Amino acid sequence: MSSARAKAHKLDESAALDRILTLEIARTTERTAVAAARLRGRGDEIAADRAAVEAMCAELSRLPVDGTVVIGEGERDEVAELWIGEKVGTGRGPAVDIAVLPLEGTTICAKNLPNSIAVMAIAEAGGLLKTPDVYMDKIAIGPGYPAGLVGLDRTPAENLTALAAAKGCSVAEITACVLDRPRHARLIEEVRATGASIRLIGDGDVTGVIHTTEPEETGIDIYMGIGGAPEGVLAAAALTCIGGQMEARLMLDRAEKVERARALGITDPRKIYGLDDMVKGDVLFAATGVSDGSFLQGVKFGRNQITTHTVVMRSSTGTVRWIRARHTHLDKFEA
Ligand code: FBP
Repeated sequence: MSSARAKAHKLDESAALDRILTLEIARTTERTAVAAARLRGRGDEIAADRAAVEAMCAELSRLPVDGTVVIGEGERDEVAELWIGEKVGTGRGPAVDIAVLPLEGTTICAKNLPNSIAVMAIAEAGGLLKTPDVYMDKIAIGPGYPAGLVGLDRTPAENLTALAAAKGCSVAEITACVLDRPRHARLIEEVRATGASIRLIGDGDVTGVIHTTEPEETGIDIYMGIGGAPEGVLAAAALTCIGGQMEARLMLDRAEKVERARALGITDPRKIYGLDDMVKGDVLFAATGVSDGSFLQGVKFGRNQITTHTVVMRSSTGTVRWIRARHTHLDKFEA
């Protein structure tokens, strides 16, 4: 084979694999979301999360990759499945990093409130930041703004004023999404003092961050505040695909957390991470709605069919695919 043909062949192979993975990642979050949705609104977060984890593990075992979990259910000594460092996939296929949140928003699923999702990202090996399950301070805005417009080392007033100026509106027309937590009392006060509006969310900050990418649809311009670090890396994967800016800093406020981070290769506990620090190279991101939400519709159970709503994105092509799938072979969704 000539070297040009060999190269084309190699590119074809990698494109084919990417296409397969695009479908496989969607299939994985779809099945996970269906398993969680069966327990939607039952008031039992633990059961819903368990169902999602089991479904995701089953799907991951069929994924044609040599995968390593870098964001999962916890650290090796804490959980039986999906621990950081666990090998997943068939072992045949590309070496990849896998980040999963089988059920993002366990409480919202248990209460059947909006925006619980099954979510996952696949990146080239070494492409995703490995972080312990600690808190992370985050700030994020959507695409189309000058780089470095907002930052964690600036005050809320400075960030909101800069964003309003870049958007060409007054600060009063800016809406910030913030998790409704006592730890955010001061942040909320400072944001409101600028005249900006706040959308307080009960849970689900992966969706909160993604909402900044379509402010016309969601009414959210900026995400601010402290949430989970695993959720931060997943949100960073989505923004890497859709566009936008994000800064993040791990909240390593105790020696024990600094140590856990160090074990995962994090040597600077105060480091501010940009998108490029959290996600490197090509990444695929997928999320399927569990409960109905503004970003994705939840799983619908029909008499002889199940309908799922999924978004799949890829950073190297910038493609964002919305997949509304009707599943009629319901045996495939049995536990
Ligand atoms: P769960 O899915 O574990 O319930 O997490 C939901 C969530 O709201 C995340 O979206 C967010 O990052 C994190 O919890 C915030 O943690 P906390 O509830 O401890 O403030």
